Amino acid sequence: MTALQPDDCAVEINHVSRVFGSVQAVNDVSLSIRTGEFITLLGPSGCGKTTLLNMVAGFINPSSGAIRIGGKDVTNVPVHLRDTGMVFQSYALFPHMNVFDNVAFGLRQRKFTKADISSKVMQAIEMMSLSGMEHRRISQLSGGQQQRVALARAIVIKPKVLLLDEPLSALDKSLRAQMQVELIELHRNTGLTTIFVTHDQGEALSLSDRIVVMNRGQIQQVAEPIDLYRNPANGFVASFIGEINALPPATCTVASDEISLDIGNIRLIAPRRPEWQFASGQSAKAFVRPEHIRIATPADGGRNVVTGEVLTHIYQGSHTITRLNVDGLGPIEMRLPGGDVVGRVPVGLKADIAINLAEVVLLSNTAN
Ligand SMILES: Nc1ncnc2c1ncn2[C@@H]1O[C@H](COP(=O)(O)OP(=O)(O)OP(=O)(O)O)[C@@H](O)[C@H]1O
Ligand SMILES: [Mg+2]
Repeated sequence: MTALQPDDCAVEINHVSRVFGSVQAVNDVSLSIRTGEFITLLGPSGCGKTTLLNMVAGFINPSSGAIRIGGKDVTNVPVHLRDTGMVFQSYALFPHMNVFDNVAFGLRQRKFTKADISSKVMQAIEMMSLSGMEHRRISQLSGGQQQRVALARAIVIKPKVLLLDEPLSALDKSLRAQMQVELIELHRNTGLTTIFVTHDQGEALSLSDRIVVMNRGQIQQVAEPIDLYRNPANGFVASFIGEINALPPATCTVASDEISLDIGNIRLIAPRRPEWQFASGQSAKAFVRPEHIRIATPADGGRNVVTGEVLTHIYQGSHTITRLNVDGLGPIEMRLPGGDVVGRVPVGLKADIAINLAEVVLLSNTAN
């Protein structure tokens, strides 16, 4: 990767760690975030997302390492002098204040004039579609409206960096989808460098320029969504991003244009990719996404076709997830569009399925 020029780099996190007693919440994280980028910290609960975000905001000090914002070392700079706007995991609005005063908070702290405060607050309120609600108390707002107030409060100070800690997690599915669109539009309209935190991989894939996958305080991979989905760096990322079947360890036999994967008595054959460094005899792990498996046809000629017993069909409207047990491979999930296959192969009967190995994720068996 080419080094970023200082002008391109809005936030630079340099070997940052944080321990709480015996817990290593963040472990030697380094990351450069470009100006205007929408970057997402994604990982399971407890992996250190909030701690890392709070260190960028200044609410928590790193145990070691340094943070730069806009080229300036802010490691020891207090929160209100950092040019960051934050939306907290729990919104953290002031319940006793009305909408206007909540949004005005950061401006008053920064000693803007009354007239200036008024015009900036009204502009932010309008931007977040809250016009007419300035005098409402927080308790008189819906979850989605509170969400917008929290966003208005964060953007009103025109921060260099917008920090969003799971801002949509309290919303129901449809409101969440609507707010995702609003966040994309807010980002497009303001061009604000945004660090977004979520443990929802679908949300990360749909919103982000780049995704930082974290586990146990460490970065596992940083990549654009499509790259992360297609080329996960390790088993953790492969399993965390989207649905995937992890097949038992395979022994590779490498030919000029294909790799055979022997798993017990089953032989799968994948077209060889230039980036693969596997040697014959080496053990590898293959991961296959449910959408890359279908019912076999005679045209497959038995290539990459295995037989499984149907365990369940789960109808989900636009598609159906079918779970099968394949001798030698274990439980396998396949995903087929629509509902027409439900019941075509009844539960308890056998089906021949074809695995598309052009899209296989193949990792060395030693990688975790
Ligand atoms: N103030 C604290 N004191 C002690 N331990 C803490 C403190 N804050 C966080 N931790 C621990 O550090 C680890 C990382 O916590 P953090 O809140 O950063 O996780 P997270 O990725 O944001 O999780 P979630 O998705 O649940 O919000 C956890 O093990 C947590 O228990
Ligand atoms: Mg958190």
